[in-house]
Amino acid sequence: MQSGTRPRNRQLVVLASIVGGAIVAIITATTFWWIYELATGPDRKAAAQAAAAPYNPSDNIRAIMQAPANNPKAADPADTREAWMGKVAYPAGVQAGQDYVAQFPQPKNVAVLKGMTTAQIWAYMQQHVSAALGVGCQYCHNIADFSIDIPQKISARLMMTLVNQLNKQFITNLPHWRGNYVDCATCHNGKPVNLTTVNDNFVQAKQPIKVVAESVDFQGKPVRTKAPKLVDLKEAILEQTYNYVVWKPYDPADPTSGRGSLALNYTGGRTQDQVNVTQGAMNLFSWSLGVGCTYCHNPRNFANYEISTEAPTLVVNGKPEYIAPRIKAQRMLLMTTWMIQNWNKYVLPRAAVQTGAKPYISATGQHIRNIGGSYFSVPGCDTCHNGINIPKASLNQVDVPVGEAGLPVLPTVLRGIE
Ligand code: HEC
Ligand code: HEC
Ligand code: HEC
Ligand code: HEC
Repeated sequence: MQSGTRPRNRQLVVLASIVGGAIVAIITATTFWWIYELATGPDRKAAAQAAAAPYNPSDNIRAIMQAPANNPKAADPADTREAWMGKVAYPAGVQAGQDYVAQFPQPKNVAVLKGMTTAQIWAYMQQHVSAALGVGCQYCHNIADFSIDIPQKISARLMMTLVNQLNKQFITNLPHWRGNYVDCATCHNGKPVNLTTVNDNFVQAKQPIKVVAESVDFQGKPVRTKAPKLVDLKEAILEQTYNYVVWKPYDPADPTSGRGSLALNYTGGRTQDQVNVTQGAMNLFSWSLGVGCTYCHNPRNFANYEISTEAPTLVVNGKPEYIAPRIKAQRMLLMTTWMIQNWNKYVLPRAAVQTGAKPYISATGQHIRNIGGSYFSVPGCDTCHNGINIPKASLNQVDVPVGEAGLPVLPTVLRGIE
């Protein structure tokens, strides 16, 4: 029977070595996975969680405190500000603010936040200004006296009037408005400067195509004042996005209404160049909002203004209503156009940027424009939307917390509803 047991033993040995090998392989794989998880897991998880989590100003305040302290005077001897980053700077500013509140219950130098007490302003500054820009109070204040004006504070004051105008003219009167306001964080999202203004995909898309850039009239016919010039497709798309004109305001009874300078359906037709420009602008919208074409269009008829059934509904007076994203997008186009025309009223120009007459996109995705001879970084759809249909850091009226002093923390004046 030995001849019979030997092979059985051999089979057992082979089996055992296979099982053993498998166990070793599993242990090795698990160990490597475990090491990998230990090394990268928390980061990846934190990044994924941060991307999925709702906007929370406390996260930005934590980031200010965890950042290394900065030294503005070393970076620029003309800058007289104290450090605004780090675990000393932030609480020092808040504490100085509290002392200032005790000394001056009413503010001494406010042009926008009128009617608020110093305590209310102090609370608003932490949640909606410092947190929104990811900087301590010292970025805009000499914390020995909060009433002193410095350039960054003046920009911030102008930006308060900008937020008021955006909410008043374009947001709160959107058809089927869902109740989200623009706030500082909607654009700044934890950064004071170098905000992404154009979707990264758009920056990377280096279309080699040149197109003829010429304006069209309300019938879609080219306006030939000068000889048409060849420009990059990207440039032509930006030109359209920031110089949008409505020819025929939307009227539900009239299917030819709701048309503007990106529409294609006018008699006389469009050239292939104009089709390319519109297609490029549409890609920019889709990328910026993280939605497909059918979010705004009926794919059987792109020219139609019928309301998309794919977009979520709202219940108004107990009845479901579709939310008309295409009409909202048209309003948003008017908003980007308005911002370009008025941007130099709301922010001080960029000091050190490339010169040259053409608008251009910087390596970090900023859209830089020459407005009245100075250079500005101007916002686009992606600055607020950042890949989501409702900007994450917009402020919903339902969620507005009531401030300690019994006032909603986002001052009424910034909502544009006063
Ligand atoms: C991005 C710039 C910016 C940052 C950062 C900032 N502030 Fe302000 N602060 C302003 C502006 C602008 C005003 C004036 C608003 C107006 O004119 O209505 C102001 C006004 C004030 C006032 C009222 C002063 C007065 O008497 O006129 C206080 C108090 C104040 N801020 C406290 C703080 C505190 C505390 C912090 C940090 C948590 C802070 N601020 C961060 C821009 C800023
Ligand atoms: C529509 C988008 C948008 C909104 C809303 C917005 N900002 Fe800005 N802000 C910008 C852009 C873009 C810049 C220019 C940044 C650059 O040059 O890189 C800027 C610049 C600034 C600067 C100048 C920074 C510097 O050091 O030069 C300050 C301060 C500022 N914003 C404060 C605010 C405050 C406070 C609010 C809310 C009341 C606000 N912003 C709302 C887009 C916005
Ligand atoms: C965020 C909403 C939105 C998204 C997403 C979107 N579009 Fe549009 N689209 C518009 C608006 C607004 C207009 C009208 C512009 C105008 O009035 O000049 C338009 C116009 C058009 C037109 C011209 C129709 C006409 O009236 O002549 C075509 C074609 C088109 N889009 C195709 C697309 C395609 C293809 C996609 C996907 C890559 C897309 N769109 C994604 C909002 C959107
Ligand atoms: C200053 C910030 C800002 C900019 C810039 C901006 N949006 Fe918006 N957008 C908003 C806010 C806030 C809402 C939510 C309004 C609401 O509650 O109904 C919104 C809503 C929308 C909606 C409706 C989404 C839905 O599901 O209800 C569309 C479509 C849209 N934006 C398109 C655009 C396009 C296209 C651009 C660029 C041309 C753009 N937006 C630029 C702030 C902005």
